[in-house]
Amino acid sequence: MNDKNKIVIGLIIFVVILTFPFWYNMGKAAPVPEPKLTDKAKAAKECIESKEFMKSEHMQILDVWRDTVVRDTDRIYVSSSGKEFDMSLSNTCLDCHSNKEEFCDKCHDYASADPYCWDCHVDNPKEKK
Ligand code: HEC
Ligand code: HEC
Ligand code: HEC
Repeated sequence: MNDKNKIVIGLIIFVVILTFPFWYNMGKAAPVPEPKLTDKAKAAKECIESKEFMKSEHMQILDVWRDTVVRDTDRIYVSSSGKEFDMSLSNTCLDCHSNKEEFCDKCHDYASADPYCWDCHVDNPKEKK
């Protein structure tokens, strides 16, 4: 083996060691979950507001809904596109997103968020009936 080959082999080993953390973790690092939509949600095509808005603001929307219902006894939400929704966590959100485990929970687990809402609110309004 001449010196040139030794250098090439040395380089290969060096690169492999250098990049080891990257390929060793391939497929292992928890990927950001892609929330699954139910057939009902797919048919509706859109959420009550835009996807981007929902992603970052759904907690605030739920807070506003709760206050509006409980304090002002108003139950109708008019979205920015003019659609009307009953302001209900279980009957509206979970009507389209009835796959709570695959949808809400999956994302919350990833983000280490653990809403306590389900202590009181039913998470399977359909089965309850
Ligand atoms: C009419 C059916 C419907 C209702 C009611 C509904 N959603 Fe959605 N939701 C959807 C659809 C469809 C999407 C996907 C939108 C898209 O891909 O553009 C979505 C997307 C979302 C997202 C973003 C998911 C992502 O991939 O980032 C969140 C969060 C969400 N909804 C929460 C809620 C909450 C909370 C409520 C109640 C306040 C609610 N939704 C009510 C149909 C609905
Ligand atoms: C795309 C990811 C994603 C999806 C899907 C999602 N959430 Fe969230 N949710 C989050 C994140 C991230 C937080 C934490 C935000 C924070 O801590 O500021 C959160 C926080 C919340 C909170 C506030 C919790 C608290 O203790 O303040 C509520 C309520 C909530 N989500 C309800 C829902 C419901 C109901 C659904 C399903 C219909 C849902 N979320 C779907 C990402 C998601
Ligand atoms: C200690 C019990 C309790 C907890 C915990 C709780 N709620 Fe409620 N919530 C209620 C009661 C009671 C009402 C009034 C029901 C009504 O008037 O229809 C209500 C009403 C609401 C409403 C409007 C009506 C409806 O049917 O949804 C929303 C939205 C709501 N809560 C969201 C939340 C969210 C989001 C959380 C978690 C961050 C949460 N709640 C946690 C007891 C609770």
